[in-house]
Amino acid sequence: MQKLKILMLVFFVGLVGCTHAEVSQTKQIQIGISYYDSYDPFIEQLSKRIEDILNEENVVVKSQDSEKSQIIQNRQVSDMLKDGYDVICVNLVDRTAPKKIITMAEEANVPIIFFNRELVAQDLESWKKLYYVGGDANESGTKQGEIVVSYLESHPEADHNLDGKIQYIVMEGEAGHQDAIVRTESSIQAISDAGVVLDKLDYAIANWNRSQAYTKMKQFLGKYKDSVELVLCNNDEMALGVVQALSESDIPQSQWPLIIGVDGLLDGLKEVKNGTMIGTVYNDQIGQAEAIAQLAIALAKNEDLDQCHLTNGKYIRKPYEKVTQENVDDYLKLVQ
Ligand code: BGC
Ligand code: CA
Repeated sequence: MQKLKILMLVFFVGLVGCTHAEVSQTKQIQIGISYYDSYDPFIEQLSKRIEDILNEENVVVKSQDSEKSQIIQNRQVSDMLKDGYDVICVNLVDRTAPKKIITMAEEANVPIIFFNRELVAQDLESWKKLYYVGGDANESGTKQGEIVVSYLESHPEADHNLDGKIQYIVMEGEAGHQDAIVRTESSIQAISDAGVVLDKLDYAIANWNRSQAYTKMKQFLGKYKDSVELVLCNNDEMALGVVQALSESDIPQSQWPLIIGVDGLLDGLKEVKNGTMIGTVYNDQIGQAEAIAQLAIALAKNEDLDQCHLTNGKYIRKPYEKVTQENVDDYLKLVQ
């Protein structure tokens, strides 16, 4: 009997040992994500895609909304670090204030993948396990400008008052966001470089937001109804607000200013398809989501990062693509 008991104990200890080993071998990867604002339509799409990929890969995902507060985001990151997350993906609220997160991550030795809201290079280089996934803001503006230029080449009547200049308004995203400042500059640069003479009527900061752009455009129409020929928008949501304001005006659609955005989200693509927007620039939500998920998994498994094609060991930038009525169907299929 005594022998049997010992045997059973050995067997039991063996079992426990084995289970332990298996548990540690198959420990699920845990990836935390913090979004600056989950109500932002581009972020909403991007987040859905990142989470779908991670779920398919059987990763434990915790995603949180920082509600546009850097203090809330810092706390979320701190909690996820305490909870032992392997990698944390951060869509910074304030792209100029990543220091707290960087210090906490370095202390815990947990890699951080920043995305969409780009921190300055100096901050990204301040520790080796920091990465950035996004696009090149300059490229998106240049491509937007190029769409305008080629549209004007085939539609000289867009210069309604025939003064040889294009009177324009800019709807800008959030102040201080790389995709607002740089998109505006590079779009205007590309149009001017092509020899089009621009005449700026006004601009408004509409914070990426449809209803803010709608309100601003309503006001602008009071002043510039007969003179505006082009509305450059830093994203599609704001372009959609502009479309809405014009739809409610008494200006016939043939006399509308040209409207263009950036992002290529479904609603924007539909307006490109029906001709109310002359185009948009596709902000590769699918490519960015794949890159974030793939990099996060590789980091969590401590794998070689060669497969992630990082630039300078830190950046993954997905190219922007021009979308006009000619190729909009391809993008409608892609994002649906
Ligand atoms: C997108 C915007 C979005 C912003 C959020 C930009 O890249 O074009 O639609 O609101 O990112 O950070
Ligand atoms: Ca004109």
